[in-house]
Amino acid sequence: MKLCAILVIMDVNAINKALDIVREQIVSAADLHELDALKKQFMNDVVAPASKQIGTLAPEMRSSAGKVLSEAKQQFEEFFTPVKEKLAQVEQSIALESERVDVTAVEQIVPLGARHPLSVLQEDIAEFFRSISWRIAQGPEVDAEWYNFDALNFGVDHPARQMQDTFYLEKANQVLRTHTSPVQVRSMLENGVPLYIACPGKVYRTDELDATHTPVFHQCEGLAIDKDLSMANLKGTIDAFAKKMFGSSAKTRLRPSYFPFTEPSAEMDVWYENKKGGAGWIEWGGCGMVNPNVLKSCGIDPEVYSGFAFGMGLERTLMLRHNIQDMHDIVEGDVRFSRQFGFES
Ligand code: DAH
Repeated sequence: MKLCAILVIMDVNAINKALDIVREQIVSAADLHELDALKKQFMNDVVAPASKQIGTLAPEMRSSAGKVLSEAKQQFEEFFTPVKEKLAQVEQSIALESERVDVTAVEQIVPLGARHPLSVLQEDIAEFFRSISWRIAQGPEVDAEWYNFDALNFGVDHPARQMQDTFYLEKANQVLRTHTSPVQVRSMLENGVPLYIACPGKVYRTDELDATHTPVFHQCEGLAIDKDLSMANLKGTIDAFAKKMFGSSAKTRLRPSYFPFTEPSAEMDVWYENKKGGAGWIEWGGCGMVNPNVLKSCGIDPEVYSGFAFGMGLERTLMLRHNIQDMHDIVEGDVRFSRQFGFES
């Protein structure tokens, strides 16, 4: 029943009836919102018109009528307020329950990835060579035999050309590059001289995967061609590079060796203090003065220009630097391995 329907002005019975009805409605209110709406409705439909009507009564009637009305308001509040408080409490505890955080719950850990240490190493290398004003060069991993062997002064019968070492493609004269040295040839032909380049990259050989070998691995090639370059420039460059790779104690030494593309050629050893305080000479890569035949293949006059080159394995560099015993760890790409090297982005 609508409250206004039973409003008979200043009729005590009618007001009590309105109070009874609103009380019933109050106890069955579903939430605070509904409750507040009931109060508004009582004020608008009962109290406001009654107050208005009081003004129209004869003066002697007004005070008793006012009393009736204020008593009704008081009764309303006495009923309304505790119900409202109770409902507020219920609503609050429902809200608290729904927002409850279980501090004992086991966190669902989303494992963080990590960059592979070989990728990070290649960037470190690139950063070093850029810092000494060399350029970073790249070449294709599938390359013509001519770039991989002939232009580098490998004889037609050189053992490295054998099927046992080299992956040949079905397409004639194409190989998976066996070293980064063909990038030397491509860079000389494309850019001419003077030339200062480093080339970190992936190479392939028909090795079985074991603790020290992998058929897919990485090397870094270095090449400088200019007037008046000598072994002294080579030594200074690889010494600085070794310090960048192995720390400030590092130094290098050269032992005579042979490579078709360099003359003279040398094996380079590195010496550095490892983290456990030990130190010693360890073979790191190969190097030498660029063979004049290579310069000629690339259209460079060996009477005017000379150059030096070097190359080393990056898996080997990582293994030495971090005392990694098994190549499988580097190859498998297990994030638990990579994470040990940090989370460089
Ligand atoms: N290409 C050689 C290899 O794969 C490494 C190497 C040795 C590169 C001497 C050079 C160098 O540039 O001068 O074993």
